[in-house]
Amino acid sequence: MAIYAIWNNKGGVGKSYLTFQLASEYARQNPNKKVLVVDICPQANSSSMLLGGMDAGETVLTQIHTTQPRRTISGYIEERIRSPYVSPNSGAGYITHVATHNDKIPPNLHLVVGDEQLEMQASRVTGASFPGPPDAWRIVHLWIRELISDIQTSWDNADSCVFIDCNPSFSIYTELALTAAERLLIPFSADGSSKRAVKAVLSLVYGVRLHPGDPQSEFFRELERHRMTLPAIYMYIGNRLTQMYMSSASAFKTVVNEIGDEIWGVWQSSAQTFCIHPNSTATPHSRKTFQNMFQYEINDANSASVVSSALGIPIARLTAGKKEVAGKSITVNQSQLDKQVPNIRTLVENIE
Ligand SMILES: Nc1ncnc2c1ncn2[C@@H]1O[C@H](COP(=O)(O)OP(=O)(O)OP(=O)(O)O)[C@@H](O)[C@H]1O
Ligand SMILES: [Mg+2]
Repeated sequence: MAIYAIWNNKGGVGKSYLTFQLASEYARQNPNKKVLVVDICPQANSSSMLLGGMDAGETVLTQIHTTQPRRTISGYIEERIRSPYVSPNSGAGYITHVATHNDKIPPNLHLVVGDEQLEMQASRVTGASFPGPPDAWRIVHLWIRELISDIQTSWDNADSCVFIDCNPSFSIYTELALTAAERLLIPFSADGSSKRAVKAVLSLVYGVRLHPGDPQSEFFRELERHRMTLPAIYMYIGNRLTQMYMSSASAFKTVVNEIGDEIWGVWQSSAQTFCIHPNSTATPHSRKTFQNMFQYEINDANSASVVSSALGIPIARLTAGKKEVAGKSITVNQSQLDKQVPNIRTLVENIE
């Protein structure tokens, strides 16, 4: 059992798309395991894709969002705002069985649905961690961990894997997700701001000072104070790098190499923040063995990706041919599928 957070404080790098693809593929490859997606993002993008995409998925989302009691992440958060320091042990009441709504998703995948109400609740969540009992910060930061463990208990602690889709900003919810997670998947794209984001993750989560004299993040200091554990970096996922390669080869290479240098630098200065993959043989000593363990790439699949997310069909299940999306016919080519499906499969095979 492992809990993964998919996070990068840069927006639009593919966190939600990858949560959808990786969780679906993980459930397909591991039919005997329970898979849980916790969508802790107010945009609820991964929920929408899992539940059937822009038409069917959005309809289901609206139905769930307008039914009382609210069986979403916000429903649980609301309960915790009322009972911040004593767990109601009610997490199992907040899951949605995805295949009931979308038959393209394996039956072993469950979801805590994302909800735009999170935005309105945020100040009350922060308010619950201070003032309060001396360890209020710690207890509040364990809400999502408790949600997950309630669900796992309801599954008799069967073998499971959890994916948490985070919103980009370093909000209170991202903090809760990171204290719940054991491992971190960091998607990035090939642009200059991704390079900065690689460093930002380090300073926000692991207290690394980017410049001498910089203060350490409050999140990191509180974690230390409460002796709580941090998630370990499991993978950097270069997402949609090839598309940019096609458009601008040399500029692309420069940027990707610089990001690669940055990540390699992270390993050299902070190897303890990484999770050595138990499947692999040894601690990496060269840049090549490091990249084999910690750096993966997901290609852009163009229209196939659009159709996959719009219809809520995991890309590994999508077939070539004409598809109808919002009343328009879109053709999915086999060559598009061949670009991305093997990446998703291999990446998931390396998720333990
Ligand atoms: N590998 C890919 N191939 C093709 N399209 C992709 C790929 N990854 C992401 N996309 C598309 O890029 C867009 C942004 O992705 P996504 O919404 O997953 O990013 P995000 O990091 O979750 O954004 P936010 O920070 O707003 O939460 C979406 O339209 C998504 O479908
Ligand atoms: Mg997102």
